[in-house]
Amino acid sequence: MASPVLKQGFFVVLVLTLSVFQMVSASDPDILTDFVVPQNVTPDGNFFTFTGLRAVLPLDAPTAFKLTKVSQAEFPALDGQSVSIAVLEYSALSLNPLHTHPRASELLFLIHGSLEVGLVDTTNKLFTQTLQAGDMFIFPKGLVHYQYNANATDYAVAISAFGSANAGTVSLPTTLFSTNINSRILAKSFKTTVPTIHTLKRGLKPPMA
Ligand SMILES: *[C@@H]1O[C@H](CO)[C@@H](O)[C@H](O)[C@H]1NC(C)=O
Repeated sequence: MASPVLKQGFFVVLVLTLSVFQMVSASDPDILTDFVVPQNVTPDGNFFTFTGLRAVLPLDAPTAFKLTKVSQAEFPALDGQSVSIAVLEYSALSLNPLHTHPRASELLFLIHGSLEVGLVDTTNKLFTQTLQAGDMFIFPKGLVHYQYNANATDYAVAISAFGSANAGTVSLPTTLFSTNINSRILAKSFKTTVPTIHTLKRGLKPPMA
C-alpha cells in the first residue's frame, strides 16, 4: 500500500505533466530537426524564400476585400516553424466577415488606411477598436472576430502574423449556412423560421472563400 504522501506526490506529478503537455500542445508540434524538407527537395536559399507576395507591391487600391495567405501550403519551408502571415487588402466599406482561427492567435499590423476590428471572448464580451495605420491588434486564438474598413473613400491594408504554419479559418457564414446543415436545425438554433434561413443561405451563394 502506497503511503498517502506518495499518492499525493504521484498526483502532483500527474497534474504537472498534464499541464506541461497542455502548454506544449497549445502551439504547433515541435520538430526534431532544424527544418522540414519535402521529399525529393534539396534545400538551398530558394527553399527558405517566398516571392509570391511581390505581386501585392506597390500597394494599390483593391476593388474588393482581398486576402493573400502565406501558410505552409503556399510556402513549404514553414512546415514545423509555427509561423505564417497573410496580407489583407480592404476596398472602401469592405468587410472580412466573422471568422475564427482554430490553431493560432493573429497579430494584425495596419499599414494603410483605418480599420474597425472586433472580437468576442468566451464569456460573450465584445471588444472593438478603430485602428489607424501603424497600429497593431491581437486576435486571441480561436475567438470570433472581424475587420471592417468603414472609410467610404480610402482603402486599407494590413499584414497579419499567425502563431501556426497552418492557422486554419472557420468562416461563420460559410460554416453555418453554406455546408448543407438542415434548415430546420438552423431555424431552431437561431430561433427563427425556415424561410429566414433559406434567405440567409441564398444570400451566401456562391459559398464565400
Ligand atoms: C477616409 O480616408 C480619407 C483618406 O485617408 C480621410 O481623409 C478621411 O478622413 C477618412 N474618412 C473617415 C470617415 O475616416
